[in-house]
Amino acid sequence: MSVTTDFDFADRVRAINASAIRQALKNAGPTTISFAGGLPDPALFDVEGLAHASRLALDDRLAFQYSQTEGVPRLREQLAALLAQRGARVDTDGLIVTTGAMQGIHLIAQILLNPGDSVAVERPTFLTALQTFNLHEARVLEVSGDRFGMLPEALESVLRKQRVKLVYVVPNFNRRGDAVRAPPAAA
Ligand SMILES: Cc1ncc(COP(=O)(O)O)c(C=O)c1O
Repeated sequence: MSVTTDFDFADRVRAINASAIRQALKNAGPTTISFAGGLPDPALFDVEGLAHASRLALDDRLAFQYSQTEGVPRLREQLAALLAQRGARVDTDGLIVTTGAMQGIHLIAQILLNPGDSVAVERPTFLTALQTFNLHEARVLEVSGDRFGMLPEALESVLRKQRVKLVYVVPNFNRRGDAVRAPPAAA
């Protein structure tokens, strides 16, 4: 369903369709399990841990103060340290705290994509990321994959044929499988 209203929306917004995920989630409830939106089991939420963390944050009045757009510096330092433990070297200054993965995808699309630019994605991929690329009027190129995700040789063949501005992959728990592709064995 596209947006039908007399309100003077920007052209790119007029082309947006209603989110299939949002529609699917409307049907989920206490007695209905929706597999469409990938809802986690509420039993898995760390309610006590989150309550404890919230209490600590609320005890610090500065939590309500304006802060840096990139995120609270202490949190960014801790995130950089956590990522380092996991083998990713990230400078604190190069790290932005977002409200979720979607905000990150949206920001990347906003700074990289001009209308008509190409984005290579796995097939199938995360629907909402596709909606973001469409909103930025990008051309989406599907690259085949297997349960490990995008096939490197399929991507290589796409890259040989056309200019691709962005490659979007879901590195784990992708839509086809549960596996992570191992890095190529050292020569
Ligand atoms: C691959 C992928 N990326 C991003 C998201 C959205 O993440 P967030 O809720 O953190 O914006 C989802 C949610 O299902 C997802 O499956």
